[in-house]
Amino acid sequence: MPAVFRRDQRPWIDPDVADVDAIIEIVKKCPSGALSYSIDDIEYRDQDRKPMVTTSRNGPYLVTGGVELAGVDNWGQGASKEHYALCRCGKSNNKPFCDGTHLAIKFKDGQ
Ligand code: FES
Repeated sequence: MPAVFRRDQRPWIDPDVADVDAIIEIVKKCPSGALSYSIDDIEYRDQDRKPMVTTSRNGPYLVTGGVELAGVDNWGQGASKEHYALCRCGKSNNKPFCDGTHLAIKFKDGQ
C-alpha cells in the first residue's frame, strides 16, 4: 500500500489516503511487529496465534505466537514480543532482528 506507507517521504505514513479496514489488514500482516493501530485509545499490535517460526523467501525468519527469545534485553520501544522478524542474511544493523538490509543487499537464500 505505497500510498499509505511512503518510504521516501516524511511523515512516512499517511493514513488518510486509504480505507481504515484495508490499513488494518496491512498492519496485521506486518512481520516485524513494528506497526500497530489504535481505535478509541486502545492499541492493537499483537494477535492470538500459535507459536511458529517460518522462513521467508530471501528474507528473515518470521516468528509468531509469542515465542520467547533468549538473550535479548533491548526490544526497542513499542516492539512486539508476539511477532518479530529475525535476520537470516547476517547483515542487519539491529541483530538479531531484521532491519530490511536483506533487500538492499539483494540477499538470496538459494531456495
Ligand atoms: S534478513 Fe533482513 S536484514 Fe537480514
